[in-house]
Amino acid sequence: MYQAIKNIHVTCVILSIAGFTLRGWWMLVDHRLLNHRLTRILPHVVDTVLLGSAITLAVMIEQYPLQAPWVTAKVIGLIIYILLGAVALKRGRTRGVRVAAFVSAVVVFSWIVSVALSKNVAGWLAVFA
Ligand code: HEM
Repeated sequence: MYQAIKNIHVTCVILSIAGFTLRGWWMLVDHRLLNHRLTRILPHVVDTVLLGSAITLAVMIEQYPLQAPWVTAKVIGLIIYILLGAVALKRGRTRGVRVAAFVSAVVVFSWIVSVALSKNVAGWLAVFA
């Protein structure tokens, strides 16, 4: 059961970054599909399942934010990823700001994955330590 939920979680992780990258690309080339109904709805479906599976896993192994540092780090990372994503795809006023936010969001995302794999708050930042 745990493994099945983890597979769902990781599948959503892949769908999330694949979808974000595609929307980032569409943002850069001003693609009309960026404003398609499905483009606006699907990310919410994926992110809801991603978070739902995350909470289920955390409850199953009793590792909670503010108690397990690596889980806290993931929650903070996810919030930053969401905020940067909103700037990249919607709120950024200039193209430069949107591109910078997009690249930063992908970097933060990769850090969250490295935290998940290492169960260490530093994740890949550990290479600078
Ligand atoms: C903030 C909400 C999140 C929580 C509470 C959470 C929690 C968890 C938990 C409990 C596991 C299982 C760990 C294990 O059994 O080894 C897991 C695995 C994983 N999570 Fe998350 N997660 C969250 C968000 C994310 C996000 C946003 C990403 C991607 C950027 C992500 C990427 C992963 C990956 C790649 C694994 C598999 C790690 C492995 O195979 O060892 N998680 N997560």
